[in-house]
Amino acid sequence: MKTVEVRGSQGISEIHVGESIKNVVNYLPKGKKTVIITDENVKNYYEQDFPQGCPVITISTGEKIKTLATVEMIFRELIAFGADRSTFILGIGGGIVCDITGFAASIYMRGVEFGFVSTTLLSQVDASVGGKNGVNFDSYKNMVGVFCQPRFVVCDTSLLATLPPDEISNGFAEIVKHALIADAPMLDYIEANIDKALALDREVISKLVEDSVRLKASVVQKDEKEAGERKKLNFGHTLGHALEKLNSIGHGRAVSIGMVAATSFSVQKGLLADKEFQRIKSVLGKLNLPVELSSFDDSITSFKDSLNKSHSTPDDSDKLIDNILNAMLKDKKKDNDKIGFVFLNGIGKCVVEKITFEELRNLLVSAGI
Ligand SMILES: NC(=O)c1ccc[n+]([C@@H]2O[C@H](COP(=O)([O-])OP(=O)(O)OC[C@H]3O[C@@H](n4cnc5c(N)ncnc54)[C@H](O)[C@@H]3O)[C@@H](O)[C@H]2O)c1
Ligand SMILES: [Zn+2]
Repeated sequence: MKTVEVRGSQGISEIHVGESIKNVVNYLPKGKKTVIITDENVKNYYEQDFPQGCPVITISTGEKIKTLATVEMIFRELIAFGADRSTFILGIGGGIVCDITGFAASIYMRGVEFGFVSTTLLSQVDASVGGKNGVNFDSYKNMVGVFCQPRFVVCDTSLLATLPPDEISNGFAEIVKHALIADAPMLDYIEANIDKALALDREVISKLVEDSVRLKASVVQKDEKEAGERKKLNFGHTLGHALEKLNSIGHGRAVSIGMVAATSFSVQKGLLADKEFQRIKSVLGKLNLPVELSSFDDSITSFKDSLNKSHSTPDDSDKLIDNILNAMLKDKKKDNDKIGFVFLNGIGKCVVEKITFEELRNLLVSAGI
Protein backbone atom coordinates (compact mmCIF):
# COMPACT_ATOMS: atom_id res chain seq x y z
CA MET A 1 0.00 0.00 0.00
CA LYS A 2 1.25 3.49 -0.91
CA THR A 3 -0.14 6.75 0.47
CA VAL A 4 -0.11 9.94 -1.58
CA GLU A 5 -1.02 13.27 0.02
CA VAL A 6 -2.94 16.13 -1.57
CA ARG A 7 -2.37 19.30 0.47
CA GLY A 8 -5.48 21.36 -0.23
CA SER A 9 -6.56 24.73 1.18
CA GLN A 10 -8.86 23.01 3.68
CA GLY A 11 -6.44 20.31 4.82
CA ILE A 12 -4.69 17.16 3.75
CA SER A 13 -6.39 14.48 1.69
CA GLU A 14 -4.72 11.05 1.86
CA ILE A 15 -5.01 8.69 -1.12
CA HIS A 16 -4.29 5.09 -0.11
CA VAL A 17 -3.42 3.11 -3.27
CA GLY A 18 -3.58 -0.67 -2.87
CA GLU A 19 -5.44 -0.52 0.47
CA SER A 20 -8.30 -3.01 0.97
CA ILE A 21 -11.94 -1.95 1.31
CA LYS A 22 -11.98 -4.24 4.36
CA ASN A 23 -9.63 -1.83 6.17
CA VAL A 24 -11.62 1.34 5.45
CA VAL A 25 -13.02 1.21 8.97
CA ASN A 26 -9.50 2.15 10.20
CA TYR A 27 -9.76 5.52 8.44
CA LEU A 28 -13.22 6.50 9.72
CA PRO A 29 -13.28 9.06 12.52
CA LYS A 30 -13.68 7.30 15.86
CA GLY A 31 -16.84 7.82 17.87
CA LYS A 32 -18.78 9.45 15.04
CA LYS A 33 -21.68 8.19 12.97
CA THR A 34 -20.83 7.21 9.36
CA VAL A 35 -23.41 7.12 6.56
CA ILE A 36 -22.49 5.28 3.34
CA ILE A 37 -23.55 6.38 -0.14
CA THR A 38 -23.18 3.82 -2.92
CA ASP A 39 -24.86 2.71 -6.15
CA GLU A 40 -26.92 -0.39 -6.89
CA ASN A 41 -24.15 -2.29 -8.71
CA VAL A 42 -21.46 -1.65 -6.13
CA LYS A 43 -23.86 -2.57 -3.33
CA ASN A 44 -24.69 -5.88 -5.04
CA TYR A 45 -21.03 -6.80 -5.44
CA TYR A 46 -19.49 -5.49 -2.24
CA GLU A 47 -22.06 -4.80 0.49
CA GLN A 48 -20.55 -7.58 2.62
CA ASP A 49 -17.26 -5.64 2.71
CA PHE A 50 -18.81 -2.29 3.73
CA PRO A 51 -18.08 -1.11 7.29
CA GLN A 52 -20.68 -2.81 9.49
CA GLY A 53 -23.54 -1.04 11.23
CA CYS A 54 -23.60 2.08 9.03
CA PRO A 55 -26.80 3.26 7.34
CA VAL A 56 -26.54 2.93 3.53
CA ILE A 57 -28.04 5.30 0.93
CA THR A 58 -28.23 3.61 -2.47
CA ILE A 59 -28.47 5.63 -5.66
CA SER A 60 -29.13 4.40 -9.17
CA THR A 61 -26.49 4.29 -11.93
CA GLY A 62 -25.59 6.27 -15.05
CA GLU A 63 -24.69 9.86 -15.89
CA LYS A 64 -28.41 10.82 -16.03
CA ILE A 65 -28.75 10.47 -12.25
CA LYS A 66 -25.88 12.90 -11.56
CA THR A 67 -28.40 15.63 -10.76
CA LEU A 68 -29.62 17.93 -8.00
CA ALA A 69 -32.68 15.67 -7.68
CA THR A 70 -30.42 12.80 -6.54
CA VAL A 71 -28.67 15.14 -4.12
CA GLU A 72 -32.08 16.14 -2.68
CA MET A 73 -33.00 12.48 -2.25
CA ILE A 74 -29.72 11.98 -0.36
CA PHE A 75 -30.46 14.97 1.92
CA ARG A 76 -33.87 13.51 2.79
CA GLU A 77 -32.29 10.17 3.71
CA LEU A 78 -29.52 11.87 5.71
CA ILE A 79 -32.16 13.77 7.69
CA ALA A 80 -34.14 10.54 8.20
CA PHE A 81 -30.97 8.86 9.53
CA GLY A 82 -30.47 11.77 11.96
CA ALA A 83 -27.19 12.84 10.29
CA ASP A 84 -25.77 15.99 11.90
CA ARG A 85 -22.64 18.10 11.49
CA SER A 86 -20.49 15.45 13.19
CA THR A 87 -21.61 12.71 10.76
CA PHE A 88 -18.99 11.34 8.37
CA ILE A 89 -20.13 10.46 4.82
CA LEU A 90 -18.41 7.62 2.98
CA GLY A 91 -18.95 7.29 -0.78
CA ILE A 92 -18.27 3.78 -2.10
CA GLY A 93 -18.35 3.65 -5.89
CA GLY A 94 -17.10 5.05 -9.18
CA GLY A 95 -16.82 8.63 -10.38
CA ILE A 96 -20.56 9.25 -10.24
CA VAL A 97 -20.91 8.15 -6.62
CA CYS A 98 -17.77 10.12 -5.68
CA ASP A 99 -18.85 13.33 -7.47
CA ILE A 100 -22.34 13.21 -5.92
CA THR A 101 -21.18 12.17 -2.44
CA GLY A 102 -18.50 14.87 -2.29
CA PHE A 103 -20.98 17.52 -3.38
CA ALA A 104 -23.81 16.42 -1.06
CA ALA A 105 -21.42 16.17 1.93
CA SER A 106 -19.86 19.58 1.17
CA ILE A 107 -23.17 21.40 1.38
CA TYR A 108 -25.22 19.31 3.85
CA MET A 109 -25.44 21.46 6.98
CA ARG A 110 -22.82 23.75 5.38
CA GLY A 111 -20.41 20.86 5.03
CA VAL A 112 -19.59 17.60 6.78
CA GLU A 113 -16.46 15.47 6.43
CA PHE A 114 -16.37 12.80 3.76
CA GLY A 115 -14.15 10.12 2.20
CA PHE A 116 -14.29 7.65 -0.66
CA VAL A 117 -13.68 4.01 -1.47
CA SER A 118 -13.03 4.35 -5.18
CA THR A 119 -14.24 1.29 -7.09
CA THR A 120 -13.64 1.99 -10.81
CA LEU A 121 -10.33 2.41 -12.58
CA LEU A 122 -11.44 5.84 -13.81
CA SER A 123 -12.28 7.09 -10.36
CA GLN A 124 -9.11 5.63 -8.81
CA VAL A 125 -6.85 7.39 -11.30
CA ASP A 126 -8.87 10.58 -11.63
CA ALA A 127 -12.40 11.27 -10.36
CA SER A 128 -11.90 10.54 -6.66
CA VAL A 129 -8.65 12.54 -6.45
CA GLY A 130 -8.45 16.32 -6.39
CA GLY A 131 -11.58 17.60 -4.68
CA LYS A 132 -13.80 18.52 -7.63
CA ASN A 133 -17.33 17.46 -6.71
CA GLY A 134 -20.55 18.29 -8.46
CA VAL A 135 -23.52 17.38 -10.61
CA ASN A 136 -24.85 18.11 -14.07
CA PHE A 137 -27.53 20.75 -14.52
CA ASP A 138 -29.94 20.69 -17.49
CA SER A 139 -27.65 19.94 -20.43
CA TYR A 140 -24.58 21.41 -18.73
CA LYS A 141 -22.02 18.91 -17.48
CA ASN A 142 -20.62 19.32 -13.93
CA MET A 143 -22.23 22.78 -13.89
CA VAL A 144 -23.00 22.91 -10.15
CA GLY A 145 -20.36 21.93 -7.66
CA VAL A 146 -17.60 22.73 -5.20
CA PHE A 147 -13.89 22.27 -4.67
CA CYS A 148 -13.63 20.31 -1.44
CA GLN A 149 -11.08 17.61 -0.64
CA PRO A 150 -12.13 14.21 0.72
CA ARG A 151 -10.43 13.38 4.01
CA PHE A 152 -9.19 10.13 2.46
CA VAL A 153 -9.58 7.95 -0.62
CA VAL A 154 -9.09 4.18 -0.58
CA CYS A 155 -8.15 2.83 -4.03
CA ASP A 156 -8.58 -0.93 -3.69
CA THR A 157 -7.35 -2.27 -7.03
CA SER A 158 -8.73 -5.75 -6.30
CA LEU A 159 -12.26 -4.30 -6.72
CA LEU A 160 -11.51 -3.72 -10.40
CA ALA A 161 -11.84 -7.47 -11.06
CA THR A 162 -15.64 -7.15 -11.31
CA LEU A 163 -15.63 -4.14 -13.65
CA PRO A 164 -17.00 -4.71 -17.17
CA PRO A 165 -14.21 -4.49 -19.83
CA ASP A 166 -15.59 -1.19 -21.20
CA GLU A 167 -15.21 0.41 -17.77
CA ILE A 168 -11.59 -0.77 -17.58
CA SER A 169 -10.96 0.90 -20.94
CA ASN A 170 -12.67 4.08 -19.73
CA GLY A 171 -10.13 4.26 -16.92
CA PHE A 172 -7.21 3.76 -19.29
CA ALA A 173 -8.27 6.86 -21.21
CA GLU A 174 -7.47 9.04 -18.18
CA ILE A 175 -4.20 7.16 -17.55
CA VAL A 176 -3.14 7.81 -21.17
CA LYS A 177 -4.19 11.45 -20.70
CA HIS A 178 -1.81 11.76 -17.74
CA ALA A 179 1.01 10.20 -19.78
CA LEU A 180 0.38 12.51 -22.74
CA ILE A 181 0.27 15.78 -20.83
CA ALA A 182 3.04 15.17 -18.31
CA ASP A 183 4.76 11.78 -18.26
CA ALA A 184 6.35 10.46 -21.47
CA PRO A 185 7.90 7.38 -19.76
CA MET A 186 4.39 6.38 -18.63
CA LEU A 187 3.35 6.10 -22.29
CA ASP A 188 6.39 3.86 -23.00
CA TYR A 189 5.40 1.72 -20.00
CA ILE A 190 1.79 1.41 -21.16
CA GLU A 191 2.90 0.41 -24.68
CA ALA A 192 5.29 -2.21 -23.28
CA ASN A 193 2.67 -3.67 -20.93
CA ILE A 194 -0.63 -3.29 -22.78
CA ASP A 195 -1.73 -6.92 -22.49
CA LYS A 196 -0.88 -7.11 -18.82
CA ALA A 197 -2.63 -3.80 -18.20
CA LEU A 198 -5.83 -5.01 -19.90
CA ALA A 199 -5.64 -8.25 -17.92
CA LEU A 200 -5.39 -6.14 -14.73
CA ASP A 201 -2.00 -7.60 -13.84
CA ARG A 202 -1.56 -6.58 -10.21
CA GLU A 203 1.91 -5.07 -10.55
CA VAL A 204 1.15 -3.14 -13.75
CA ILE A 205 -2.20 -1.78 -12.53
CA SER A 206 -0.77 -0.78 -9.14
CA LYS A 207 2.01 1.16 -10.84
CA LEU A 208 -0.34 2.90 -13.28
CA VAL A 209 -2.83 3.85 -10.55
CA GLU A 210 -0.09 5.07 -8.22
CA ASP A 211 1.70 7.09 -10.94
CA SER A 212 -1.60 8.67 -12.03
CA VAL A 213 -2.58 9.56 -8.46
CA ARG A 214 0.88 11.11 -7.82
CA LEU A 215 0.69 13.12 -11.02
CA LYS A 216 -2.83 14.40 -10.37
CA ALA A 217 -2.04 15.15 -6.72
CA SER A 218 0.98 17.24 -7.69
CA VAL A 219 -1.00 19.23 -10.28
CA VAL A 220 -3.91 19.81 -7.85
CA GLN A 221 -1.54 20.88 -5.09
CA LYS A 222 -0.07 23.58 -7.34
CA ASP A 223 -3.47 24.85 -8.52
CA GLU A 224 -6.40 23.49 -6.51
CA LYS A 225 -9.04 25.83 -7.98
CA GLU A 226 -7.98 25.51 -11.64
CA ALA A 227 -6.55 28.99 -12.22
CA GLY A 228 -3.77 27.71 -14.50
CA GLU A 229 -1.79 24.46 -14.18
CA ARG A 230 -4.87 22.30 -13.45
CA LYS A 231 -6.44 23.29 -16.78
CA LYS A 232 -3.96 20.88 -18.40
CA LEU A 233 -5.94 17.97 -16.94
CA ASN A 234 -8.76 18.98 -19.29
CA PHE A 235 -6.83 17.62 -22.29
CA GLY A 236 -9.37 15.84 -24.53
CA HIS A 237 -12.27 16.98 -22.35
CA THR A 238 -13.67 19.92 -24.35
CA LEU A 239 -14.83 17.67 -27.16
CA GLY A 240 -15.07 14.70 -24.75
CA HIS A 241 -17.67 16.37 -22.53
CA ALA A 242 -19.65 17.44 -25.60
CA LEU A 243 -19.74 13.84 -26.91
CA GLU A 244 -20.57 12.48 -23.46
CA LYS A 245 -23.61 14.77 -23.27
CA LEU A 246 -24.69 14.20 -26.90
CA ASN A 247 -24.41 10.43 -26.80
CA SER A 248 -24.48 9.14 -23.22
CA ILE A 249 -21.26 7.22 -23.77
CA GLY A 250 -18.80 6.46 -20.99
CA HIS A 251 -16.61 9.35 -19.86
CA GLY A 252 -13.34 7.66 -20.85
CA ARG A 253 -14.59 6.66 -24.30
CA ALA A 254 -15.68 10.23 -24.97
CA VAL A 255 -12.35 11.56 -23.70
CA SER A 256 -10.51 9.12 -26.00
CA ILE A 257 -12.13 10.68 -29.07
CA GLY A 258 -11.54 14.11 -27.53
CA MET A 259 -7.83 13.33 -27.13
CA VAL A 260 -7.55 12.08 -30.72
CA ALA A 261 -9.15 15.32 -31.93
CA ALA A 262 -6.96 17.51 -29.68
CA THR A 263 -3.88 15.61 -30.90
CA SER A 264 -4.94 16.15 -34.52
CA PHE A 265 -5.43 19.86 -33.77
CA SER A 266 -1.91 19.94 -32.27
CA VAL A 267 -0.50 18.45 -35.50
CA GLN A 268 -2.51 20.95 -37.58
CA LYS A 269 -0.99 23.79 -35.56
CA GLY A 270 2.53 22.44 -36.12
CA LEU A 271 3.05 21.62 -32.42
CA LEU A 272 3.33 17.85 -32.81
CA ALA A 273 4.68 15.40 -35.41
CA ASP A 274 2.19 13.25 -37.30
CA LYS A 275 4.01 10.08 -36.21
CA GLU A 276 3.14 10.93 -32.57
CA PHE A 277 -0.52 11.31 -33.62
CA GLN A 278 -0.40 7.82 -35.16
CA ARG A 279 1.30 6.46 -32.02
CA ILE A 280 -1.37 7.91 -29.72
CA LYS A 281 -4.20 6.56 -31.87
CA SER A 282 -2.56 3.16 -31.86
CA VAL A 283 -2.20 3.00 -28.05
CA LEU A 284 -5.80 4.12 -27.48
CA GLY A 285 -7.06 1.60 -30.04
CA LYS A 286 -5.13 -1.24 -28.39
CA LEU A 287 -6.76 -0.27 -25.09
CA ASN A 288 -10.12 -0.87 -26.81
CA LEU A 289 -10.98 2.82 -26.85
CA PRO A 290 -12.64 4.54 -29.83
CA VAL A 291 -10.29 6.64 -31.97
CA GLU A 292 -12.75 7.73 -34.64
CA LEU A 293 -16.30 8.94 -34.33
CA SER A 294 -17.33 6.22 -36.76
CA SER A 295 -15.81 3.50 -34.56
CA PHE A 296 -18.42 4.06 -31.86
CA ASP A 297 -20.34 0.92 -31.04
CA ASP A 298 -24.00 0.21 -31.82
CA SER A 299 -25.24 1.55 -28.52
CA ILE A 300 -24.62 5.05 -29.82
CA THR A 301 -27.07 4.70 -32.63
CA SER A 302 -28.36 8.26 -32.59
CA PHE A 303 -24.90 9.61 -33.07
CA LYS A 304 -24.00 7.07 -35.73
CA ASP A 305 -27.19 7.92 -37.55
CA SER A 306 -26.40 11.60 -37.58
CA LEU A 307 -22.85 10.76 -38.63
CA ASN A 308 -24.05 8.63 -41.52
CA LYS A 309 -26.47 11.34 -42.51
CA SER A 310 -23.61 13.79 -42.37
CA HIS A 311 -21.99 12.00 -45.31
CA SER A 312 -25.07 12.50 -47.45
CA THR A 313 -25.12 16.26 -47.82
CA PRO A 314 -22.79 19.08 -46.83
CA ASP A 315 -25.67 20.62 -44.87
CA ASP A 316 -25.96 17.59 -42.58
CA SER A 317 -22.22 17.53 -42.06
CA ASP A 318 -22.32 21.18 -41.02
CA LYS A 319 -25.18 20.36 -38.67
CA LEU A 320 -23.16 17.62 -36.97
CA ILE A 321 -20.18 19.91 -36.44
CA ASP A 322 -22.51 22.64 -35.16
CA ASN A 323 -24.15 20.21 -32.72
CA ILE A 324 -20.74 19.35 -31.34
CA LEU A 325 -19.72 23.01 -31.19
CA ASN A 326 -22.95 23.97 -29.45
CA ALA A 327 -22.36 21.26 -26.87
CA MET A 328 -18.79 22.57 -26.44
CA LEU A 329 -20.20 26.07 -25.94
CA LYS A 330 -21.85 24.75 -22.80
CA ASP A 331 -18.45 23.82 -21.39
CA LYS A 332 -17.47 25.81 -18.32
CA LYS A 333 -13.96 26.36 -19.68
CA LYS A 334 -15.09 29.05 -22.08
CA ASP A 335 -14.22 32.65 -21.50
CA ASN A 336 -16.38 35.13 -23.46
CA ASP A 337 -16.06 34.02 -27.08
CA LYS A 338 -12.84 32.08 -26.49
CA ILE A 339 -12.19 28.66 -25.08
CA GLY A 340 -9.09 27.49 -23.20
CA PHE A 341 -7.94 24.49 -25.23
CA VAL A 342 -5.18 22.04 -24.31
CA PHE A 343 -2.74 21.16 -27.12
CA LEU A 344 0.19 18.73 -27.01
CA ASN A 345 3.59 20.16 -27.90
CA GLY A 346 5.33 16.81 -27.50
CA ILE A 347 4.65 13.53 -25.73
CA GLY A 348 4.46 14.39 -22.02
CA LYS A 349 4.15 18.11 -22.74
CA CYS A 350 1.15 20.36 -23.26
CA VAL A 351 0.15 23.96 -23.55
CA VAL A 352 -3.17 25.73 -22.90
CA GLU A 353 -4.15 28.30 -25.52
CA LYS A 354 -7.25 30.41 -25.88
CA ILE A 355 -8.87 29.93 -29.27
CA THR A 356 -12.01 31.32 -30.87
CA PHE A 357 -14.95 29.10 -31.78
CA GLU A 358 -14.29 29.84 -35.43
CA GLU A 359 -10.77 28.44 -35.05
CA LEU A 360 -12.12 25.44 -33.16
CA ARG A 361 -14.65 24.86 -35.92
CA ASN A 362 -11.94 24.98 -38.60
CA LEU A 363 -9.75 22.55 -36.64
CA LEU A 364 -12.69 20.20 -36.18
CA VAL A 365 -13.63 20.28 -39.86
CA SER A 366 -10.03 19.64 -40.92
CA ALA A 367 -9.47 16.91 -38.32
CA GLY A 368 -11.62 14.50 -40.33
CA ILE A 369 -12.36 12.32 -37.33
N1 LIG B 1 -14.40 14.95 -10.10
C1 LIG B 1 -13.48 14.73 -11.00
O1 LIG B 1 -12.38 15.27 -10.95
C2 LIG B 1 -13.80 13.80 -12.15
C3 LIG B 1 -12.78 13.37 -13.01
C4 LIG B 1 -13.09 12.46 -14.02
C5 LIG B 1 -14.39 12.00 -14.17
N2 LIG B 1 -15.35 12.45 -13.33
C6 LIG B 1 -16.74 11.98 -13.46
O2 LIG B 1 -16.76 10.59 -13.18
C7 LIG B 1 -17.91 10.04 -13.81
C8 LIG B 1 -17.53 8.73 -14.46
O3 LIG B 1 -17.03 7.87 -13.48
P1 LIG B 1 -16.91 6.30 -13.72
O4 LIG B 1 -16.33 6.05 -15.05
O5 LIG B 1 -16.26 5.70 -12.52
O6 LIG B 1 -18.44 5.87 -13.87
P2 LIG B 1 -19.53 5.23 -12.88
O7 LIG B 1 -19.42 5.79 -11.52
O8 LIG B 1 -20.81 5.38 -13.59
O9 LIG B 1 -19.13 3.68 -12.85
C9 LIG B 1 -19.23 2.94 -14.03
C10 LIG B 1 -20.12 1.69 -13.83
O10 LIG B 1 -19.39 0.71 -13.10
C11 LIG B 1 -20.17 0.25 -12.00
N3 LIG B 1 -19.20 -0.13 -10.96
C12 LIG B 1 -18.50 0.70 -10.15
N4 LIG B 1 -17.57 0.01 -9.47
C13 LIG B 1 -17.70 -1.29 -9.84
C14 LIG B 1 -16.99 -2.48 -9.51
N5 LIG B 1 -15.94 -2.48 -8.69
N6 LIG B 1 -17.38 -3.63 -10.10
C15 LIG B 1 -18.41 -3.65 -11.01
N7 LIG B 1 -19.09 -2.55 -11.39
C16 LIG B 1 -18.73 -1.38 -10.80
C17 LIG B 1 -21.07 1.39 -11.66
O11 LIG B 1 -22.22 0.96 -10.98
C18 LIG B 1 -21.39 1.94 -13.05
O12 LIG B 1 -22.42 1.19 -13.63
C19 LIG B 1 -18.42 11.06 -14.81
O13 LIG B 1 -19.60 11.64 -14.31
C20 LIG B 1 -17.30 12.08 -14.85
O14 LIG B 1 -17.77 13.39 -15.13
C21 LIG B 1 -15.09 13.33 -12.32
ZN1 LIG C 1 -12.02 12.97 -17.25
